[in-house]
Amino acid sequence: MTKAASRRAMLLGAGAASILSACGGGGGGGYSGSGGSSNSSSSSSSSSSSSATGGLPDPSTAPALKTTFASKFKIGMAVDPGLTSQTITNAILVKHASSITAESVMKANPIGVSAGVYDYTQADNLIAYAQTNGIAVRGHNLVWHQTSPSWFFAGDPTDSGYKALVRSRLETYITDVVTHFKGKVYCWDVVNEVTSDDGSGTYRNSQWYQIFGDAYIEYAFRAARAADPTVQLFINEYSTEDSAKLGRLMTIVDTMLARGVPIDGVGHQLHINTGYPSVANVEAALTAVENRNLINHVTELDVSLYSDPGSCYGSPPTGCQAQITAGTAAYTTAMHDQAVQYRNMFNLFASHSSVKAVTMWGVADNHTWLSSFPIARNNYPLLFDTAGNPKSAFWAISDPTFTP
Ligand code: G3I
Repeated sequence: MTKAASRRAMLLGAGAASILSACGGGGGGGYSGSGGSSNSSSSSSSSSSSSATGGLPDPSTAPALKTTFASKFKIGMAVDPGLTSQTITNAILVKHASSITAESVMKANPIGVSAGVYDYTQADNLIAYAQTNGIAVRGHNLVWHQTSPSWFFAGDPTDSGYKALVRSRLETYITDVVTHFKGKVYCWDVVNEVTSDDGSGTYRNSQWYQIFGDAYIEYAFRAARAADPTVQLFINEYSTEDSAKLGRLMTIVDTMLARGVPIDGVGHQLHINTGYPSVANVEAALTAVENRNLINHVTELDVSLYSDPGSCYGSPPTGCQAQITAGTAAYTTAMHDQAVQYRNMFNLFASHSSVKAVTMWGVADNHTWLSSFPIARNNYPLLFDTAGNPKSAFWAISDPTFTP
């Protein structure tokens, strides 16, 4: 991992802010990987088109991603309120997605208003949308240091009953929320980003960790399992493509499994860019999980156009790459490189039967968290452009004969 990438990864976590089936793929479909025949008649018209010359296949011929990959894994997209009613993103979701993840509305902030008081309004709206459209829902997430409301930690830490009180709040929250969504989500990211970003420790030194050590992870998984015996339970993390961080994450997983903690799978966020990481690095992460007989989910995939130096993640940010403007030569090059990266990654995912869901962190380029992180700047990290049309990257993963 480069220093810049390492820095980026660290700050990603620290400062950035009707069930169709169980987590397995299922269904028919015809994804052929990198070398097989084309998957659908509709994609044949796209053969060998070239975005470099400005030409992409007719959007109306685009095959549904959820069909293309149905025999391999679910196709997911992260959804913020508003995207379900927006014409562009609604059309993409209904046609292409077999799974959605709430980008923010199923986290403890906003759901956990105060101890025992919950606001499910936005989350229930999203569940209703998913059910209406036959889309499964990934639960994201139960415990994340960035979105743990302060009421969890209220009280005097020196008081003898403090730890028991905070533990009880955590377990009550998880029990109530998992029960509320029982039968409506197929899996939960139980804990999110609990791994240290550097070798100074194995665990993130969050408030949770400072109070409980690693035991809070165990409490969270056990409470979730008790509330719903069949929902699949994940530990979700970023930078699993970095071998050192992967090692720390797997130490945590092994520690929990040795205690009998009910972990079903590992979520790999995969916030990557056009030039990083290598397929080999990502494959190492998938293989490490398979070796524990666990499920792999790709949970937050996007491919940024930028590979900034570490200073861009400082305060204030400096040295960030110059904005790439749509329509320029730099944009054309970036779209090509992005399509190649997406193709390489999807070919990898499709070659590992342990991968049961692949979720993009957004729907189309008109809404992405990367337009404000690490700085406010245009970014185009998804498979559909700002108008909702399939990009080179879409065609690269949908049609093996397409030339980006
Ligand atoms: O909806 C409210 C709005 O009513 C209010 O006026 C506004 C004022 O700030 O906030 C809006 O909520 C924002 C929400 O996104 C919806 O847009 C929150 O402030 C904002 O903090 C929240 O950010 C999300 C962040 O997680 C925290 O939940 C980002 O959209 C989301 O992309 C990001 O996702 C995380 C993953 O969960 C974990 N991995 C990293 C990834 C990127 O940071």
